[in-house]
Amino acid sequence: MTLKEAQNYATLCLQLRPLGDEMEELWGALRAAEDSILASLLMHIRSSKEMMLRAVRGATRLDVAFARLKFGQEVKGVVPIVKDRGVIDVKSARHPVLELRRVRPVANDACVGRKGVRGLVITGPNAGGKTVVMKTLGLFGLMVSMGIPIPCSPGARFDFFTPVIADIGDLQSVTGDLSTFSGHILVAKEVLRRTGAIISEDGSPREKTEEGKDERERKEGAAGEGAEVVEASDLGRDAGCPLVLMDEMGTGTEPHQGAALAQAMLEALVTAEARVVVTTHFVQVKEMALRDERFAVAGMEWVKGRPTYRLKMNEVGESLALDLAGRLGVPSEILDRAHDLLADDIKRATALQARLEKQVDEYNDLIQDAKRDREAAERLRNKLQEHRLRAELRADELVKELAKRQIEEFREKGREMDELLEKLKKQEREMAERTESFQGGGKVEGSAARTRGSSSRNPFGFAPSARGGLTANKAGLEIAEKSASQNREERLKAQASARQLLSKLPKEVEKFQSEMEKVKKTKLPPGWQLLKSGSMFMLRETVFVMVGEHKGAMGKVHGRGLGGRWKVELTSGKEAGKHVEVPPEFMARKVKIGDENKDPVDLDIERKRAIMAGKRKF
Ligand SMILES: Nc1ncnc2c1ncn2[C@@H]1O[C@H](COP(=O)(O)OP(=O)(O)O)[C@@H](O)[C@H]1O
Ligand SMILES: [Mg+2]
Repeated sequence: MTLKEAQNYATLCLQLRPLGDEMEELWGALRAAEDSILASLLMHIRSSKEMMLRAVRGATRLDVAFARLKFGQEVKGVVPIVKDRGVIDVKSARHPVLELRRVRPVANDACVGRKGVRGLVITGPNAGGKTVVMKTLGLFGLMVSMGIPIPCSPGARFDFFTPVIADIGDLQSVTGDLSTFSGHILVAKEVLRRTGAIISEDGSPREKTEEGKDERERKEGAAGEGAEVVEASDLGRDAGCPLVLMDEMGTGTEPHQGAALAQAMLEALVTAEARVVVTTHFVQVKEMALRDERFAVAGMEWVKGRPTYRLKMNEVGESLALDLAGRLGVPSEILDRAHDLLADDIKRATALQARLEKQVDEYNDLIQDAKRDREAAERLRNKLQEHRLRAELRADELVKELAKRQIEEFREKGREMDELLEKLKKQEREMAERTESFQGGGKVEGSAARTRGSSSRNPFGFAPSARGGLTANKAGLEIAEKSASQNREERLKAQASARQLLSKLPKEVEKFQSEMEKVKKTKLPPGWQLLKSGSMFMLRETVFVMVGEHKGAMGKVHGRGLGGRWKVELTSGKEAGKHVEVPPEFMARKVKIGDENKDPVDLDIERKRAIMAGKRKF
């Protein structure tokens, strides 16, 4: 710069200086004006703070509600029935992300929490869709807790679960010094603690209320103060049970120990009333799920070497790891060697397992059939019992009727017998009259008079014939009466023998009459005399007839003693009243037709004559 130019610049600065001061003043006034405007605006805002906050909250609520609705519409969701009983019962459930991607997800049905089932064990081949099913249910749990419609068929039931805990993936970290297995174990421990399956380290039980509260407060904070996270306000703050999702639990270590650990965890979780959805390849866990009624088992369908992603309830899927490896391009040499390495017993066990699983369904059907059959058999048995009872009652009635009829019949027979005996007496009387006319004289008359008198006056005290008839009649009736109360066979036997006895008597009488006619013509031995009528008596169903008497020897026949000798009670003479065994000779002098072993009519007439003539012993 030249001197001249420097002088001009200095002059200009001196001229502008006042203007600068003025500017400075103007800026100061402007700032003061701004401050005063801001202060007055602040005053306005402060006075309407509450109103504005309410507006923001309202807008947030609306925004969240619209966001839920929009999301629900995009995933074609429905509002399920929500309660707090830990029930999941959904049809045609689709994973929301697959639904958003419009990849036409395969829809599946799933059910947990009904009929005492608390856990669902998903089995099946790799890449079969197990994890997707499990995640679908987990996401539904979270969506329901946030009031977002879930993509499934209408009428679904999906209860409010809290907390929803998942162990999916791998927590392995170099920076955190965590291995794959220890990562799973840490999650497992947390799961057990938060579900109440174990008590905390200091021994106190899990404080579910506090945790539930914290979690909810966190969600509420995210949504804005006062925003409702769950629409179902009637559920209460601590309603619902935990939902635990574990993908291929127990992996990352030796399989047997891993499976045992997984099984123990599952048992503890369902015992704590948590709802559990897990995926597994462990045979031991599959078996446990089949055995334990608290678990349902399901398998992913695999058709013609490809997954269908369909979940089949009550089926157990195979892992088919080698098949999948082949499909994904593992060289056949490796696969062949792997197949060789599979121990025979494992192969057999796998085949057996498949067969058993198939049989489970068949057995279930059989059990149902058997139940139905048993019920039918029970009904039939009741019916048969009823029929049998009726038949027994009827049989009783019939037996009584029969017995009554038999008694009547015997009474009738008795009457006939009485008539018959009446006839016999009449014939005896007539015979006696004929004998009188045959012998003539007072001696016979006296004898006839004695015979017609009381039985005690009868020689040997034999019962008169009429009495014998009555005895037979009474005996018949007694047998009949008795038979009514005895069993049928005895009755029939007694009836037959009574009939036989009754039928014999008339014959006896007839034959006796003809015998009498012959005897009358016979010369009597000394000391013997003929009775006016035969004295008939019955002994052991045999009819005996006496036609003669020996003077001075009176007695009552009591039957035969040992050695076939007759016993007689003497009724006259010095030894009257005594029971004596009668020597055969004594009886031999008596005329007797028949004996107790032989039919009286069979005794041949020549023998009888010889006996009567005293030429032959009886
Ligand atoms: N329901 C489904 N609908 C459509 N694609 C599915 C379905 N389930 C699974 N897939 C497809 O199969 C893949 C493997 O599923 P994934 O659940 O991981 O199998 P897994 O757990 O049995 O090994 C998924 O990434 C997805 O592409
Ligand atoms: Mg998986």
